[in-house]
Amino acid sequence: MESVGIGLLGLGTVGGAVARRLIDEWELLGERAGATPALRCVAVRDTSRSRGFDLKNVRVVGDPQAVVADPAVAIVVEAIGGTDPATALIEAALRAGKTVVTANKAVIAASGPRLSALAAEHDAGLYFEASVGAGLPIIGLLRGSLLGDRIAALDCVINGTTNVILTQMRSAGVSYESALGDARRRGFAEADPSLDVDGWDAVHKLVILAWLAFGVHVAPDGVDRRGIRDVTGADVGALAQLGYRVRLLAHAERGSGDSVHLRVRPTAVGPGHLLHDVDDADNAVIISSDLEGTMMLRGLGAGGSSTASAVVSDVVTAVRERGTPVVNPAALTVPTMLGDADVEVAGYVRLQLSAEPEARALVLQALEDRGVAVDAAVDLTGSELIVLTGVAPRAVHDRALETLDTLTSVDQILGALDRVEA
Ligand SMILES: NC(=O)c1ccc[n+]([C@@H]2O[C@H](COP(=O)([O-])OP(=O)(O)OC[C@H]3O[C@@H](n4cnc5c(N)ncnc54)[C@H](OP(=O)(O)O)[C@@H]3O)[C@@H](O)[C@H]2O)c1
Repeated sequence: MESVGIGLLGLGTVGGAVARRLIDEWELLGERAGATPALRCVAVRDTSRSRGFDLKNVRVVGDPQAVVADPAVAIVVEAIGGTDPATALIEAALRAGKTVVTANKAVIAASGPRLSALAAEHDAGLYFEASVGAGLPIIGLLRGSLLGDRIAALDCVINGTTNVILTQMRSAGVSYESALGDARRRGFAEADPSLDVDGWDAVHKLVILAWLAFGVHVAPDGVDRRGIRDVTGADVGALAQLGYRVRLLAHAERGSGDSVHLRVRPTAVGPGHLLHDVDDADNAVIISSDLEGTMMLRGLGAGGSSTASAVVSDVVTAVRERGTPVVNPAALTVPTMLGDADVEVAGYVRLQLSAEPEARALVLQALEDRGVAVDAAVDLTGSELIVLTGVAPRAVHDRALETLDTLTSVDQILGALDRVEA
């Protein structure tokens, strides 16, 4: 059988699992691809370190450019991570007419449409199934099975680290700091967790999904983003008593014309909602479209095996499609972003009432007067009040909360979150 040379950048969590699969299952993968994907060359930082498996027919180099330049390599798999030097390496491979498979969400979020155009210009392919939800085949759905649909919205839990932390805060009744420490000990959070807990990882993934779903390219810093550092154990606990679970929800919706809205925010998810039970490291993506309606993908979404599942599938597809790689959609580079006056949200607010007579009634009246309905109000001990606020434009919500902050009936606003219901 004909073989196609594969070059691999990185042999870490992802690259190591990819290499093992390519080596162990070359025959099966060859049957599926119509030609054998043969691992020829690998780049790592430390070429002297043993990787725990047999690389005897594979050239191991310290310079990733050498993999890209290797004439025996037709497909470059990038599993180094970060934007530098990964972006330049991907560009160099595409310019040389080599197809690229990558798991790199940071690169695809920042430069996906531009790199796709470069790939098309050089008759090369660019595949990135692993960049969102690892082995969950969400990119394949958007790039293939749902091409006949108009997608209205995406609702996702696409960051395992924050979901592990928020799950632990609820189930063990602990603070954010304590749950973060636990997630680190269990290997779910990095020493520097900021990409995850500040929401950037979810932003990158959401930007990629919005590109494929809506044909727009939103810059990552154009996404309405709030991380989970400020989510308190008191809010998670109070919401749990009411049947809600807090998740870092990544939401994208299409407005009229070319307008879109993307946000990543900690959100109280009501009982019966499809994302309510997606605990721990699980990922899930809900797609709402006009023909299919609502569908959900749910699964592991991270880790070496799950990510290798997507990367190796892309390699097999790339081998099969060699010569006629699928072209990714072009994207409007400057889409219209919906403003806070157009985006509708429901909310949760926990506040400390003052000793003023009728404080509770005055607070609820103030909300109604400012155009925010009260769906429910729940009294906690110590004059704390929870208000579940009805759907209203975010701008109206924010103004109403600013007003509450000035009322003498309110000592302090203790917490506020978005809320979604089934
Ligand atoms: N881990 C996951 O669960 C997961 C899930 C989805 C997507 N991803 C994405 O997959 C990519 C890889 O992640 P990972 O977790 O596998 O990372 P990792 O474990 O840190 O592995 C990185 C690998 O790249 C090599 N490397 C780094 N810089 C290099 C350079 N300049 N030249 C040559 N080799 C270099 C490292 O070599 P040494 O081994 O010698 O240090 C290591 O083998 C990232 O884009 C990540 O976002 C990861």
